Amino acid sequence: MLHLDALERRFMAASAAMLVVFAVAILWSVASGHTSLPAPAGRIDPAEVRTTAPFDNPGLHQTGPGEYDAVFIASAWQWSPAEIRVPAGSKVRFLVTTVDVIHGFRIPSTNANAMVIPGQITKVTVEFDEPRRYSLICHEYCGIGHHQMGGTIVVE
Ligand code: CUA
Repeated sequence: MLHLDALERRFMAASAAMLVVFAVAILWSVASGHTSLPAPAGRIDPAEVRTTAPFDNPGLHQTGPGEYDAVFIASAWQWSPAEIRVPAGSKVRFLVTTVDVIHGFRIPSTNANAMVIPGQITKVTVEFDEPRRYSLICHEYCGIGHHQMGGTIVVE
């Protein structure tokens, strides 16, 4: 029988308890609807992005009262479109894909934080309550121009 020191046993129990707490926290946050785990929202041929709907028409499109789809294409090293303007109180569903390498879709101060992977459509929904300017940044290193890959979301 393996001998374990009492203190060692206590640390092992504490580590196991923490794993259970973290797993419950993830399940609770998903089940209560406060958060969603990143997941691919569709597949797309990366060579045909610019001729495949909805990416053949990037930009902001109204889908209902106060609801919009914002279609973005990532490429080295820019966002297309570079800027969108949405009314305050809007719920915006971002649909994003890339024509080349992996990029990152991040709007600081919001819940938008996702990878953009060739061949996949990334979907993330953001509610913009107050008028202000947000930056759209790429937070996955994508080459020599990565640091200048920025855009703007204007809530007006
Ligand atoms: Cu695109 Cu970094």
